[in-house]
Amino acid sequence: MANKEPDLELGRKKLDWARQHMPIHARLRELYGEKKPFQGLTVAVCSHLEAKTGVLIETLAAAGAHVVFTGSEPMSTQDDVVAALNEQPNITGHAKRGLSDEEFEEIQLKVLEHEPDLIIDDAAELTARMYAKRPELAEKVIGTCEQTTTGVHRLEAMQKQGILKFPAYAVNDTPMKHLFDNVHGTGESSISNFMVVTNLLVAGKRIVVAGFGYCGRGLARKLRSLGAKVIVTEVDPRKALQAHMEGFEVMSMEKAAPLGDFFLTATGNRDVIRKEHFEKMKDGAVLANSGHFNVEISLNDLRELAASEREVRPGVTEYTLADGRRIHVIAEGRLVNLTAPTSMGHPVEVMDQTFAMQFMAALHLLEHRGELEPKVYPVPDEVDRRVAEIKLETLGIEIDSLRESQRRYLEAWKYEDIKF
Ligand code: NAI
Repeated sequence: MANKEPDLELGRKKLDWARQHMPIHARLRELYGEKKPFQGLTVAVCSHLEAKTGVLIETLAAAGAHVVFTGSEPMSTQDDVVAALNEQPNITGHAKRGLSDEEFEEIQLKVLEHEPDLIIDDAAELTARMYAKRPELAEKVIGTCEQTTTGVHRLEAMQKQGILKFPAYAVNDTPMKHLFDNVHGTGESSISNFMVVTNLLVAGKRIVVAGFGYCGRGLARKLRSLGAKVIVTEVDPRKALQAHMEGFEVMSMEKAAPLGDFFLTATGNRDVIRKEHFEKMKDGAVLANSGHFNVEISLNDLRELAASEREVRPGVTEYTLADGRRIHVIAEGRLVNLTAPTSMGHPVEVMDQTFAMQFMAALHLLEHRGELEPKVYPVPDEVDRRVAEIKLETLGIEIDSLRESQRRYLEAWKYEDIKF
């Protein structure tokens, strides 16, 4: 654990900058700051702890909650932001950058000791920890709101095994989240961090993107617009076809391995790049991951093949193989946009939307307390629409609304009704 004192003033400035660019949260504080719907409740927030998450935490506290928070990834926590949050009323944080796996678990358990009523989670880290270590606490929980693709999969697995004891809203699956956060947020922040960490040119490079889901498609499209020649790998034939029809080269990782200058994984799966691929890569290949866990690039395989490893620049490890080829991995294969030394996560405005969805989903769970089964639910469409409306208001964009005749037309099926 690093012992350097956090720079409190810098943490305050980071929060201030984020607040200025999160107008939906400003609106939520106006709407709920007086009503205080979360009054008397403890809300646990487990997420990447930097300024945008800080603004969500502040907004929940403004709406009456006692907020306890912790990190969802040991390397993405910014200690200065944690310090600037911890000085505020009704906010208690347990988080620190660079914790070992044991310390990370310990600190999450501390958050659970506050016996949360609601959970706002990332990759179901806190929820999974609760069921694994303190299952008795689940009785009291009204529900959880889940932000990531990986977390929704984990919650569905818990539901299948009959472990889930409270309802979960799949916030990740809402249009207001995944169409913006996964596509644009992951795309812009992963590429910008890749460029800053390596200081290498993207234009003209052959870049292999593994996975053409929401994140992968954002990465592939944005890399192409920067002048890269993008190759896509997939396991889903429909996604592969979609990538093909968008003009990307599609092939297996086996074929792509010797061609790529850079590799970016975004699959939510494990061992996507492994021994047989490293064996074929070019000297100097650079690899990074945008998926939630650090298992997409098999570092175990790479270490087995490597004769030596060293840090060549902050955040970049160089593995030299027995035949002299060098393979570079950013941030030990952890989320490149959140855990590399210069990482700041998604752009602020995107997280304004994502966290507004988390806030509104938590509020909806609270308002419908006791009505929902212990299952994973889609967030009701009206919640998604409401956040979209607030976002448009903050942008000053007006849109048309359906006339009564149009509404009836869209709901009609009989010829005479369609022709009325
Ligand atoms: P998604 O489910 O839309 O896409 C994943 C794609 O990967 C699917 O099309 C799937 O067929 C493909 N895939 C699975 N195994 C593969 C393999 N072995 N080789 C090639 N393709 C494979 O998921 P989404 O939303 O794109 O998320 C992907 C990952 O990124 C998840 O772990 C998610 O939690 C994470 N994520 C990371 C963010 C960040 O800030 N870096 C933000 C949002 C999500």
